Amino acid sequence: MKRTLGVCYYPEHWPETQWAEDAARMAALGLTWVRIGEFAWSRMEPTPGAYQWEWLDRAIATLGQAGLKVVLGTPTATPPRWMLDRHPDMLALDKDGKPRGFGSRRHYCFSHQGYRTECAKIVTALAERYGRNPFVAAWQTDNEYACHATTLSYSGAARTGFRDWLARKYQSPDALNRAWGNVFWSMEYSDFNDIGLPNLIVTEPNPSHVMDFRRFASDEVVSFNRLQTDIIRKHSAYPIAHNYMGAVTEFDHFATGADLDIASWDSYPLGFLSDRIPAPQEHKRRFVRQGDPDFQAFHHDLYRSVGARRSGASAAEGRWWIMEQQPGPVNWAPFNPDPLPGMARLWAWEAFAHGAEAVCYFRWRQAPFAQEQMHAGLLRPDSAPAQAFAEAEQVAKELKDMPDVGTARADVALVFDYASDWAWEIQPQGRSFAYLWLVFDTYRALRRLGLNVDILPPDTTDLSAYRLVLAPGVFTLSDALKSALAAHKGTAILGPRTNSKTPNFAIPVPLPPALPGLDAKIVRVESLPPDVPVPLAGGGNFQHWREKLEGTAEVTEMATDGWPALVSSGKLHYLAGWPDDEAMTRLLQAACDAEGLETDPLPEGLRRRDSATHRFLFNYNPVPAEWSGVTIPPGGVHWTPL
Ligand code: GAL
Repeated sequence: MKRTLGVCYYPEHWPETQWAEDAARMAALGLTWVRIGEFAWSRMEPTPGAYQWEWLDRAIATLGQAGLKVVLGTPTATPPRWMLDRHPDMLALDKDGKPRGFGSRRHYCFSHQGYRTECAKIVTALAERYGRNPFVAAWQTDNEYACHATTLSYSGAARTGFRDWLARKYQSPDALNRAWGNVFWSMEYSDFNDIGLPNLIVTEPNPSHVMDFRRFASDEVVSFNRLQTDIIRKHSAYPIAHNYMGAVTEFDHFATGADLDIASWDSYPLGFLSDRIPAPQEHKRRFVRQGDPDFQAFHHDLYRSVGARRSGASAAEGRWWIMEQQPGPVNWAPFNPDPLPGMARLWAWEAFAHGAEAVCYFRWRQAPFAQEQMHAGLLRPDSAPAQAFAEAEQVAKELKDMPDVGTARADVALVFDYASDWAWEIQPQGRSFAYLWLVFDTYRALRRLGLNVDILPPDTTDLSAYRLVLAPGVFTLSDALKSALAAHKGTAILGPRTNSKTPNFAIPVPLPPALPGLDAKIVRVESLPPDVPVPLAGGGNFQHWREKLEGTAEVTEMATDGWPALVSSGKLHYLAGWPDDEAMTRLLQAACDAEGLETDPLPEGLRRRDSATHRFLFNYNPVPAEWSGVTIPPGGVHWTPL
């Protein structure tokens, strides 16, 4: 397969007289894809039922005739103003019961049936009209589900949907009362219609209640997406993608992935570092113009796995893209620095090295108006090339000469479970406990050791390809994963908090982690302020969280105060805390040594990724990096055939 580049374009933002020149310049730049349409509902259907397709026909034809392939977005993230007159209660309500109103985007509640019907209509009309259009070659559903924290809605529609969902799940209020433990605080229900959403109450809600609400809300995103994919598939054989947003975990992407041919994600490395990643100031300063050296790669590996859901391919072979790639300063983070020259090229190559089929820059031309006027594009508002233009051009040229880089299965697997993120958000038990960052710390340590990683869903049935498997923080191990672990011949490290709750969100008895063959139980847990580390005897510390274990399992690592830190039975290990960088690296290095897995500890900011054909090195540092006899400039990429 040939890896390709693309761009996001909004023909409705520009005079029609400009389209042909834009299209010709995109093609001359070496772009293959152009994504359009995802916010254009007010132009597709200016008044209810009065579709205006002619402008879109001409836009698609103009782009297509220039040699570009169109990714057509369904416009359901931006319902036009008239929609609210028809469905005044379609807005999501926030936790305080306030409507999230018109005037930006994503102003809808996933559970509103009237809005779903409107979505079905516009998607049907689009799919009928463009499902076989020769210039359209892929679809995108909606835009960034969950972005701007839009998964959870406390609306009447959500309450009705939640009650139905609970009735289907539990069948009787008694069963629900037992599952949630509602005898506590006299919370017992006798009718599903008495159950509210877990907001506007006096103090904390029952975690089981919130967990079911989170599962319900995730299912609502999945069914909203499926409504669209089912319609599109009736009219079109083109592959369907959705563009997920980085660091967004509000719904289960593996579940939506089962209905999509391609997973794609939107990569804004500098925005993420400034806005989303908890890291020391020194780290943020060093990488301010390059982005975190592991955050993009983590998402690449995650979405490669999400992209395998529909086909059932391995986590190494899923279909995935970057649908939006940061090209210059963005507008939405606390600080919006200019990328170091070369980063628009590095980010694209890193994605290809992790198996991306396509990388699309966001956006073609900077808009001089509205919310994103301070967001760079490949072109400036006056149509002159902005910095990333030349870098995209260079990538396009390099891709031409490069054989397909392919992907290969990694030796190391890391389990990622969206439901665990919800669980520990509901019950962190300590302010600094966050599942995503626990998993990310593990990922970062693996990458510092020069390892390639596949990220696996929590219902994985087969681990036989991996010599080392990590599953930190998975709140309930699925039966599938338990059997896969039991059959696994390699090393596995589980914990902290792995298997520490029942699916109903209770502490299991016998006490966790209840791993076959490992006689150890968690008899006490403690959370710690970030500046109270617990030293480990072998070096480094536990931070944020640790557990006290009892049992006869072999203690392979101790905290200096005598609590076991790692207990083992053969190659199965349970880790009783959240290691800091030093301890994490040491423990993972020891696991690799025991497995005979070769590591390549890398200098700060330098990262390595092996594709099926090449070894890539990426220098995220603002200074040159030396490695194995090569010097890689700041923001530079180096590759050698394997
Ligand atoms: C993404 C979004 C785009 C645009 C971009 C700006 O989250 O999908 O529409 O807003 O951010 O960085």
